[in-house]
Amino acid sequence: MQILNNAPLSHLNTFGLDAQAKKLLILDDKAQLDALPAVIEKDEPLLPLGGGSNVLFCEDFQGAVLLNRLKGIEVRETEEAWLLHVAAGESWPALVDWTLAKGMGGLENLTLIPGTVGAAPIQNIGAYGLELAPRCDYVDFLDLTTGEQRRLTASECHFGYRDSIFKQELKGQTLITAVGLRLEKAWQAVLDYAPLTQLAYDEVTPHQVSELVKTVRTTKLPDPSQLGNAGSFYKNPTITRTSFEALKELHPDLPGFVTGPNQVKVPAAWFIDKAGWKGQRLGGAGVHEHQALVLVNHGQAKAAEVLELARSIRMDVQAKFGVLLTPEIRLIGASGEITL
Ligand code: FAD
Ligand code: EPU
Repeated sequence: MQILNNAPLSHLNTFGLDAQAKKLLILDDKAQLDALPAVIEKDEPLLPLGGGSNVLFCEDFQGAVLLNRLKGIEVRETEEAWLLHVAAGESWPALVDWTLAKGMGGLENLTLIPGTVGAAPIQNIGAYGLELAPRCDYVDFLDLTTGEQRRLTASECHFGYRDSIFKQELKGQTLITAVGLRLEKAWQAVLDYAPLTQLAYDEVTPHQVSELVKTVRTTKLPDPSQLGNAGSFYKNPTITRTSFEALKELHPDLPGFVTGPNQVKVPAAWFIDKAGWKGQRLGGAGVHEHQALVLVNHGQAKAAEVLELARSIRMDVQAKFGVLLTPEIRLIGASGEITL
């Protein structure tokens, strides 16, 4: 295990914000997990980190960042499915491409989502009508409070929209080490999301779905290597049917997706856009000009500027529409996660 002191984090977060960690532990072998307790001080704040594509470093981290670089993919095959055991430090988008190249369908809608496999269950990554949940078999993790290695089945992970047990009861207590995936051989396309509905269900291949998703994603979302960002800054809020109908009367163009008997999911991007924030800048921080839900770093953004912009947007949307936006991105303070 490599241990670095006062390590820069700017190249380890896709927002490209400047920050440093008091200690950076680079884990690239599962055997190192046993040695962790010896190198971690008592009560030292710990932060597992994968690709840094869903974090905002708000200040220097006064603890140990556990950089997950555990690698390896094992495949077992049954008559019905391919069963993958994937080490947490593998790249998620590379895994999707790898499965498709091997003729295994199932992950194509989740193509090009940045980050590591180990982070995928944390917010139950989702895109274009599919989430990780239905493809996840189990999650292996190190319990950072007891040092014990444990496994949860997918149903024990309590997956929800951008949510799981790892953001709730087990928040801050786990280092995910591997994820089990089950890809059915009887592949069925998931084509419910608007741009995919143009594909012919009976003829389409997983590869074609992936190619279309890649095209749509690259036209909407900024490439972090060109323009720092962490994807959607806020989650899409869920409101009651009554609130939705009241808003719809005032704004007939408001989109909404019924997600429960009295629940409608509304696009945060629509509210931010409608409130006039698209393309706005605050110092080095800005709102992406093609996707209002994505805050970006125009070059030298400071965390304080991103936070001020994010708070101003949230206040404005609440004042104009009565809808509260909550961040999807994880805000990291000096000793752990903080709120907006
Ligand atoms: P990190 O940013 O490194 O970490 C995120 C959180 O998980 C942190 O709290 C961290 O402490 C914790 N964590 C990371 N690894 C571990 C581990 N091994 N064990 C325990 N805790 C851990 N997300 C979607 O769901 N759908 C999208 O379509 C999507 N599109 C995106 C597009 C862009 C351009 C970008 C930049 C991001 C996008 N995201 C999307 C968000 C991001 O890709 C996902 O949240 C991804 O799973 C984050 O992976 P990561 O390895 O970078 O996690
Ligand atoms: N819209 C606007 N203005 C904009 C952009 C979008 O009004 O600038 C409206 C449009 O009406 C559009 C709707 O918002 O129909 C939804 O937009 P889009 O399809 O781009 O999806 P999103 O809700 O902005 C969500 C996820 C993305 C995921 C896409 C595709 C969340 C928080 N975000 O974005 O995930 O890739 O759907 O499934 O759920 C991420 O989590 O980081 C992420 C990028």
